[in-house]
Amino acid sequence: MLRHSRIEDILEIVIENPPVNALGASVRRALFDAIDQAEKDALVRVLLIRGGGKLFSAGADISEFDRPEEEPGLSTLVDRIEDCAKPVVAVLHGQCLGGGLEVAMGCHFRIAASSTRLALPEVTLGLLPGAGGTQRLPRLVGAAAAVNMIATGAAITAQEAQASGLIDRLVDDAEFAAAALDYARTLVAPRRTRDLPVVTTADEVDAHVAANARKFGGLEAHKACIEAVKAATCQLFAQGLALEKSLFEKLVKSDQARALQHAFFAERRAATIADLPRDTAKRPIAQIGVIGAGTMGTGIAVNFLLAGLPVTLVEKGASALQRGVDTIARTFASGVAKGKMTADQEQRANSLLAPTIAFDDLSGSDLIIEAVFEDMTIKKEIFSTLDRIAKPGAILASNTSFLDINEMAGVTKRPEDVVGLHFFSPANIMKLVEVIQGARTGQDVLATCMGLAKRIGKAPVLSGVCYGFIGNRMLLPRLDQARQLLLEGATIAQIDAVSTRLGLPIGPLQMIDLAGVDIGWHRDPTRIDNLNDALCAKGRLGQKSGSGYYDYDERRRPVSSPEVDAIVQQFRADAGIVPRAISDDEIMVRTVYIMINEAALILEEGIAQRASDIDTVWMLGFGWPRWTGGPLWWATQTGIGSIIDGLERHRDHFGPFFAVAESLKKGSSRYQPFYPA
Ligand code: CAA
Repeated sequence: MLRHSRIEDILEIVIENPPVNALGASVRRALFDAIDQAEKDALVRVLLIRGGGKLFSAGADISEFDRPEEEPGLSTLVDRIEDCAKPVVAVLHGQCLGGGLEVAMGCHFRIAASSTRLALPEVTLGLLPGAGGTQRLPRLVGAAAAVNMIATGAAITAQEAQASGLIDRLVDDAEFAAAALDYARTLVAPRRTRDLPVVTTADEVDAHVAANARKFGGLEAHKACIEAVKAATCQLFAQGLALEKSLFEKLVKSDQARALQHAFFAERRAATIADLPRDTAKRPIAQIGVIGAGTMGTGIAVNFLLAGLPVTLVEKGASALQRGVDTIARTFASGVAKGKMTADQEQRANSLLAPTIAFDDLSGSDLIIEAVFEDMTIKKEIFSTLDRIAKPGAILASNTSFLDINEMAGVTKRPEDVVGLHFFSPANIMKLVEVIQGARTGQDVLATCMGLAKRIGKAPVLSGVCYGFIGNRMLLPRLDQARQLLLEGATIAQIDAVSTRLGLPIGPLQMIDLAGVDIGWHRDPTRIDNLNDALCAKGRLGQKSGSGYYDYDERRRPVSSPEVDAIVQQFRADAGIVPRAISDDEIMVRTVYIMINEAALILEEGIAQRASDIDTVWMLGFGWPRWTGGPLWWATQTGIGSIIDGLERHRDHFGPFFAVAESLKKGSSRYQPFYPA
């Protein structure tokens, strides 16, 4: 847990709790005792606290939050450090997060390696820093800067930390341990953060929050963070600390915090494959091939280029290829303009791109991803060409959103090399990648793809083969029902509002507009089989054409459209549908509960490994609100009983083949939650 060593009269205490030096109960106890002993030890004059391995500390052990806190609590520990009669120095490197930063602020001095990143991300877990962070940070950096860090969870660099007064010394990465010793030698007496004055007023905090309202969310934790920081501006330290404690205790039991912590672990669990041995060898990946220079292909290529991996980009024709190259260059240029990358990084990323119209140029690639039109005939042609030209051991991947990977693998003599890598649009921004396991996909291929996805900053989730995999399979019944509800009499705004009230960024009809009303359209404006056909016939292809189920203003905001109302009325009349009043309850059941039912089927069929993977797919791929923990966490909290009751209540609307998933019902108790209570 801790390593101690004494150099002259300086005691260095190193936290050794891999992988992230979380401050669990035993680490806290050991640190507490170490301070006690060092204080009594006449041979020790100054104490250094440092993290072993890659970082200082990722903070409190999040897995302990659902249990009563064992003594010493983090707050007690930080107070103990601050009360130490001898100078204590926090020596920071890597990451210094949450409770880690609170410990550092309890120390009397802080020195950091120049690549250190510091943050108080508790708000992203539905909490506030509960070990004095809301009271100490304003004393070090002022309350406006403190509310910025605490209520957004945003990380700052060591340079920013030094400029703001959060750290005292900044040193080169290579020298930080030695520099810390030199620094310690100069220190004479402790300096308690709690004794510093707060110079900012509560009004200034309010003004800062109002001026930057878009940065601050509206969750309980955001509000509590702001309230606690404001207390630091006008109350005594002890009073502020008491308020922080009471707010923390309320938050830690809240539904939002539990859901956000579930989301944290769900995302990390999703990156692992349950029955894959940990030591499965990964294939070396040094060269990527991407087929198709359209929106998806270029977005996919950008990820690899940014991660420093060379990409061969193939298109059929020179002009389409050039358009793709231009798109990629524009993406990097805008990254530079927004300050997200440097001109050097831009130049390097561009230089790693090798555009070509010759398929054979893919022969050196270790991983080839096709991102062409969703048509099985074309995909099969591509896979049989790849089978011919790709080098032995190359991974052959499809970015298909729906189609059967096994069929593609079937045209090759190496089905074990074939896998799906389903990126979500825009592929350079969305974190989710569904890794699709075909019937014969090799375990080493899966291990390689899961690892590679992480390497390019994505969150991989394993899915089996079915139409639409995890995410899109759940989306389809939702979109079908939304269109059906519209025909039966609901309004567009009413349908979407049910989802946005739940916290989803957009409703199902806005989602159709975003994806394109013309997906799957037969392109014959005289043939109107469904509502989408009717809209496409009028040129309303979705956001890309400026109109779909909604009109869009110059800032792409949806506005209701009298033309669509007329189209809907005409369609109803032609189909002999008499509109009826539809309740929000019915919309909720038919557009949201139906997804829960589909998810249960996905689990029954073994398409997803675990319920939390489904939550991850929807949180990262479709913007399901994290503070409700994903659809299945939400469903469990809502009560599976009421989900089943809703589905039964409206079962006639789902058609004759609808059935509530067997796995939702369990024996005599009838209701099977996705998570234990
Ligand atoms: N507590 C418990 N486990 C943690 C943890 C924490 N604070 N932080 C990370 N882990 C675990 C992860 O679950 C993961 O476990 P598995 O290997 O079993 O999946 C492992 O450590 C490695 O984590 P990552 O996969 O995320 O590794 P990474 O290298 O990509 O990222 C990191 C490292 C930047 C530290 C990232 O893990 C992170 O952001 N952690 C959370 C930090 C955080 O939110 N801290 C605040 C906690 S609340 C608090 O401190 C105080 C308070 O007052 C409430």
